[in-house]
Amino acid sequence: MMSRIPDSFVEEVRRRVDIVDVISEHVQLRRSGRSFVGLCPFHNERTPSFSVSPDRQLYHCFGCGAGGTVIRFVMDLEGLDFQEAVVALARRANLPLPFEPDSSTTVSSQRRNRREAMLQAHELAAKLYNYILMNTPAGVQALAYLEGRKISRKAAMEFRLGFAPADGSTLHAFLRRRGFADDVLIDAGLVVPLGGRVVDRFRGRLMIPIEDTQGRVVAFGGRILAPDGKPKYLNSPDTEVFHKGRLLFHLYGARKAIREANQAVLMEGNLDVVSAWQAGVENAVASLGTSFTPEQAARLKRMTNRLVIAYDGDAAGQAAAARALDIAQEAGLDVRIAVFPNGADPDEYIREEGASAFRQLLEHDALSATEFLISRLRSEADLSQLAGRTEFLKKVLRVLWERASPIERDSQLHILAQEFRVSREALAEELAAIGRQVRRTQRSARRELRHVETPPKPLQPGYVLAGRRLLQAALTDERARQQLAEEGIDELATPEQTALLAFIYAFFATHSSADVRSFLDNLPDSELVRFASSLLVEEIPEYDPSEIAGYVHTVRLKSLETAWRQALTDSGRAQARGDVDAAQTLRHRAETLQKEIQRLKRPLLG
Ligand code: UTP
Ligand code: MN
Repeated sequence: MMSRIPDSFVEEVRRRVDIVDVISEHVQLRRSGRSFVGLCPFHNERTPSFSVSPDRQLYHCFGCGAGGTVIRFVMDLEGLDFQEAVVALARRANLPLPFEPDSSTTVSSQRRNRREAMLQAHELAAKLYNYILMNTPAGVQALAYLEGRKISRKAAMEFRLGFAPADGSTLHAFLRRRGFADDVLIDAGLVVPLGGRVVDRFRGRLMIPIEDTQGRVVAFGGRILAPDGKPKYLNSPDTEVFHKGRLLFHLYGARKAIREANQAVLMEGNLDVVSAWQAGVENAVASLGTSFTPEQAARLKRMTNRLVIAYDGDAAGQAAAARALDIAQEAGLDVRIAVFPNGADPDEYIREEGASAFRQLLEHDALSATEFLISRLRSEADLSQLAGRTEFLKKVLRVLWERASPIERDSQLHILAQEFRVSREALAEELAAIGRQVRRTQRSARRELRHVETPPKPLQPGYVLAGRRLLQAALTDERARQQLAEEGIDELATPEQTALLAFIYAFFATHSSADVRSFLDNLPDSELVRFASSLLVEEIPEYDPSEIAGYVHTVRLKSLETAWRQALTDSGRAQARGDVDAAQTLRHRAETLQKEIQRLKRPLLG
C-alpha cells in the first residue's frame, strides 16, 4: 500500500500538517469544547455530527461513522489512494518528496498512474497557454481581447488565463515531447482524434483553467475571441479528474475570501467571476456552465451558510436563479439574490456601473428569497383583472408561508394589504389556512417517514463498554497494552472489538514507539478504521492500572459466562441425542466454569 513512501516521511507529513487547517478548507468548523464540529462532508446532514480533535489530530462523524487521520480525510474526500494523499499533503506543507523524481523531468507516462498523468498534463497545458498569452506574438490578439473587456494582466495571472493557438498542434507536440501518451491525452480531453491524426481540442481560444478543490488544474473553458464565433465556449469533457457537477469554478481561489466573509457569491459565467475579482469581490464562484447542482450546493454549505446568487439579469438567468435558489435552500444555505437591471450580467454591470455600485448591489440591495420570488410572481401575473390579482395573492401567501421569517411575513402582509386594498386580517386568515393545509400534508409525510426510521440503539451492556475502554487505553498507552498482554486478554466483547485488539497487538509489537495515528493509517480494514476513530474521539482518561484491571475483570467474567452457558446448552443437546459421555464431560466443564465465575465474583481480599 505504501511501498514507495518511507514511514518516517509519512510521519513527518502528519506532524507538519494540522488536521484542523486541512478540514476547515472544506468544512466550516466551530469550536465546541476541546474539539471542532461541523457538517459532515461525507453524508448529507443539517445538524453537525462531524467532529475534529486538534489534540489527537483525528476526525470522526457520529452520523455516518467516517473517521481517521488527516491522510484518510484527504483520501476519502478527494478519492485519492494513500500515496497520493500523502503527496498532496506534503506539497501543501512544502515538504520535498524523498521518493519521486521532480515532476518536471521527462518520465514515461505509462509508468505513471493515469490520473497523475492527466493532472500533470493539465498543469503543463495551463502553463503553456499562459506563457503563450503573456509572452508570445501568438498571444497578442487574445491580450487585446482581454484589454477590450477590461481584464487586467494581474487578473490574467491570478486566474492563469491563457491562449490556445489556432494551429491545433502546439499543445500536442509539447506534451508528446514530455512523454505523455496519446491515449492519456485523449482521455484527459486535451486533444481529440481527427481523421487518423490527433489535434488539440482547443484552437484559437482564450483559455480559462478550472481547478479542483486542491487548486490543481483539471479542465479548461475556452472562449472564442470573435464576437459571434460558435460555440462561444468550448469546455473540457467530464474525465477521470473532472466532474462538472461537483466542482465550482474558482472555488479553490475563493475559499479564503468565502470563509472570511462567511458568504459566497454564485455566478453563471467564468469571466463574471474574473470581473468580480477585479472589482474586489473575491468570494465569487461559477457553476461551470451547467445548472447549479445539489453537490455544488453541499460543497459551498461546508464553507459558509450564506450565498448570494448573482446570475445574469436576462430572463434565462432569472429562471436559472430561481432553480439555483431552490437547490441552495434545500442544502440549508441562507440565500439572497442580486438582480442586475436591464438584463445585464455581472461583468457588464461592473463595466458600466463600476466596482463600488456592484459591491453595493451585492451587499445591500440583494433581495431576500421571498422578495425575489414575489417579484417573479409579480412579473408573471396579470394584475389588471380581479381573478389575476387573487391568484397572485394566493401564490404570494404560499411563498410567505413556506419561506419567510415571521418578521418578513408581517411586513409583506402590510405591503400587500396597502397595495391591493384588502384588510390585513383577511390576508392573515388566508395565510393561516395555507399554514393548516401545509401542516396537514407535512404531518402525513412525517407519519410515513416514521415507518422507515431505524429503532434507537439499545444501551450498551457493561461488558461492551468495558471492551471499548480497554481498546481506548490500548490504543493510547503502551502500559495498558502491556497490562492486557500480561493478563492474556485476546478476546473482547464483540468480534469487532476482538479484531481491533489483534491488530493493536500486531502493530505495536513491531512499532512500539509509534503513535496511534500511524496505527490508524496502517489498518488495512476501513471498517476498523471507523471503529477505532469512534473510540478515539471520546475523552480518554489517563492510564490507571486498577481501572484497567476492573475492565479486564468485567470482560473476563463475560467471556466465562458465555462459555458456561454454551457448555450447558451443549451438554443438554448431547444428553438429548443419548451421548451420555459427552454430556457428562460438558456438564463437568460447566461446573468448572461456574466455579471460576464464582471465584471471580468474590470481592478481592487483601
Ligand atoms: P454566458 O453566455 O452568460 O457567458 O454563459 P459569459 O460568461 O457571460 O461569457 P462572455 O461574458 O460573453 O464571455 C455562462 C456560462 O455558460 C457556459 C460557460 O461556462 C459560460 O461562462 N457556456 C456558455 C458554455 O459552456 N458554452 C457556451 O456556448 C456558452
Ligand atoms: Mn458575459
